[in-house]
Amino acid sequence: MKTIIEPFRIKMVESIKMTTAEQREKIIKKAGYNLFMIHAEDIIIDLLTDSGTSAMSDIQWAGMMRGDESYAGARSYEHFYNKVYQLTNFKHIIPTHQGRAAERILFDILAQSGKYIPSNTHFDTTRANIEYNKAEAVDLVIEEGKDPQSLHPFKGNIDLEKLENFFKEKGRENIPVCMLTITNNSGGGQPVSMENIRGAKQVCEKYGIPLFLDACRFAENSYFIKMREQGYENKSCREIAKEIFSYADGCTMSAKKDALVNIGGYLAMNDDELALQCRNVLIVTEGFPTYGGLAGRDLEAIAQGLDEILDEDYLHYRIRTVEYMGERLDKMGAPYLKPPGGHAIYLDAKAFAPHIPVNQFPGQAIAVGLYRAGGIRSCEIGGIMFGKNDPETGAYIPPNLELVRLAFPRRVYTQSHFDYVLEVIEEVYKNRDSLKGFKFTYQAPLLRHFTAQFEVCH
Ligand code: F0G
Repeated sequence: MKTIIEPFRIKMVESIKMTTAEQREKIIKKAGYNLFMIHAEDIIIDLLTDSGTSAMSDIQWAGMMRGDESYAGARSYEHFYNKVYQLTNFKHIIPTHQGRAAERILFDILAQSGKYIPSNTHFDTTRANIEYNKAEAVDLVIEEGKDPQSLHPFKGNIDLEKLENFFKEKGRENIPVCMLTITNNSGGGQPVSMENIRGAKQVCEKYGIPLFLDACRFAENSYFIKMREQGYENKSCREIAKEIFSYADGCTMSAKKDALVNIGGYLAMNDDELALQCRNVLIVTEGFPTYGGLAGRDLEAIAQGLDEILDEDYLHYRIRTVEYMGERLDKMGAPYLKPPGGHAIYLDAKAFAPHIPVNQFPGQAIAVGLYRAGGIRSCEIGGIMFGKNDPETGAYIPPNLELVRLAFPRRVYTQSHFDYVLEVIEEVYKNRDSLKGFKFTYQAPLLRHFTAQFEVCH
């Protein structure tokens, strides 16, 4: 088989500033060993997130120039509405400035104290918006989804038996909506099968509970269904995506992922009464319903991005990139969460650096190691982000998994960049015994990972 090439060519470039190991040593120390505190210019390959970091196409940029910036009834809204409607068939489509704004509007209305909102796994902002409104966010992913070595093809699936029991136990009047995150980001970018989505819809229907998708990475999920689920091999990803949306009553969407834009999102649904309430909140907090939190040009870019993301040559290259990273990591023996997901590789830090105790944050040690060795920015998703202290004893409670996420921006880096990343990981892995843990010198009471400062444990 021939090399799977990037199915695009480059018309505009952005220079990468190179740094030496000595320079990086000073930079990371000055940043208090927190990669969020480094100037992006001092990063060689930035794999902090795949969100809002896509390269837009020539046609998207052309659309930006054609944006209609009328306050009400802009042509760009019609274009955006038609594209989202053709894909999802949802009647009401409400533009927001990003995914969490859609979540905030939805949960301002649906979530209150005493309510429960189940999902396969809620993403952090979804959970935060639910909890901010005093409701409870509950994760019901299948057991295989929690095992970093399980090769289940759809590790993002929700446990349908647990879901039904949950509905029975809590009562439909206390469950305003059920969510399903496709792909399941917090579980490693793992897909949800069509069978599972259909099954979730059946259970929800039986209890009269609406099903909403967190659809950020719907196209990557569709491609996995085509590759892995019987009966879908000859369907187009667009057909698969349309079938996925046909089972849902609505969705929240961060267009910063699978709509290939740098900012944007939407909230969509069929329920007229709910849509009316959402639009009222939208007008107060985001903007008039035909632009929401966005400019007309952003709506044009989303409309076009939703077509481009379903190009199967693109999706093939996209998923193959992550798979290729996994194969090469297997060869060098470096442990990561398997199978590789849709948008990122997650190194398994406890297995990678077993000599570092969890209260010294092995994920952070690896993330700092990757920056030192090659200027790569990754993200610790482990104790620093999710660790807690027992409110009574103060004892440290680590999360189940200590991961380092390398998330891949869409259409930004080429194969040689990825080969470089692999070389850097290999170097860090070979010298893993020299990695050292970290301890906090400063931590904020909330979302401490963004601003924390550290020193090296000796
Ligand atoms: N849902 C999922 C599954 C996400 O991954 C994200 C963002 C959001 C909702 C929120 O969307 O950022 O547009 O407000 N994920 C980013 C990430 C931040 O790095 O994984 P947003």
